[in-house]
Amino acid sequence: MSWSVSPASWVSIVHSLYCRSGRRNTLVQGGAEDRSDPDPLGSGLAGYVARSGEVLNIPDAYADDRFNPEVDRRTGFHTRNLLCIPVRNRENEIIAVIQAINKNEGCFDREDEGFLFALSAQIQLAIENASLYEDLKELFESMMEALAFTIDARHPTTAGHTLRVRDYSLAIARELGYQGNDLEILNYAALLHDYGKIGVPEAILTKPGRLTDAEYGSMKKHVVFTQEILQRIKFAQRFRDIPAIAGQHHERVDGGGYPGGLTGPEMHPMARIMAVADVFDAMTSVREYRQPADPDEVLAMLRKETGTHFDHETVEAFARYFERSHLGDQIRRRNQMAAVMNSEPSGRPSGELADQAHLPASPA
Ligand SMILES: [Fe+2]
Repeated sequence: MSWSVSPASWVSIVHSLYCRSGRRNTLVQGGAEDRSDPDPLGSGLAGYVARSGEVLNIPDAYADDRFNPEVDRRTGFHTRNLLCIPVRNRENEIIAVIQAINKNEGCFDREDEGFLFALSAQIQLAIENASLYEDLKELFESMMEALAFTIDARHPTTAGHTLRVRDYSLAIARELGYQGNDLEILNYAALLHDYGKIGVPEAILTKPGRLTDAEYGSMKKHVVFTQEILQRIKFAQRFRDIPAIAGQHHERVDGGGYPGGLTGPEMHPMARIMAVADVFDAMTSVREYRQPADPDEVLAMLRKETGTHFDHETVEAFARYFERSHLGDQIRRRNQMAAVMNSEPSGRPSGELADQAHLPASPA
């Protein structure tokens, strides 16, 4: 980060700001780390201040052994004198270093130091606010993932489904040109899309064999539960579509899906994507009551059902990703390994699970 404040006597007031990342303990200059410097805190004067906490007022940079002339050499700039001070947080830890370089006339003095310290208070606030935002974002992301894992924990045979649906969904979205906030909301909606299974009775979730019509009706309610539960989370405005997207992953573009019977244009674009990812993963994954279907055959089925179950453009985007990433081979290898593990006595205990809600033509 660099900026310019211009007391008349300084040529370059703040040449660069070195921010200390709490997690990586690395100094970055101008928003980027200097990867050519083997010392993560920097081998120059800013690094020295970051380590020592000293204020450095250097009247002649090239006469000081701690000065690293590498940047001058690379840029053609000539550093004459500089003032370098640490920025501390409320816990008195150094979180940044400010440098003022080349005073217009003479060398930096006490008044300049006072000015830079006043500036450092503003910088401290800005850095701490940014850090707080990052901490909250991390907390939010880990909470979302923890919620997703509770579903996998309750329904072990489908463990991994959530993350794979998330990965396939994001791959399709990128293929379709989505980016930024669209990818973020898709990420969270996919992680939580089956969260409503928490409201489905255990006996139905884990029932061996096919479900009765009544049981299937209960199973289908998981999308309603998902949406209702997620609507209780006070998502930021930009995430407000997450409950609706998650609640639409069993809709069909011909209006024959559930719970709302929405048609393609009525579905959220991210839900159209998730519908494809969800069915593909459900059909290509091991279930103890059936063998996984071959990925190429499932892709052919998805293509056959465009315009009825799935959106054509979405399926074709998935097909491009499928081919490019050799997804079929990856899945076949994964399923072969799972089959070997399950054939060993120490493998997973057997027991059929009901996952019919994810199959496209399942009546029950
Ligand atoms: Fe589902």
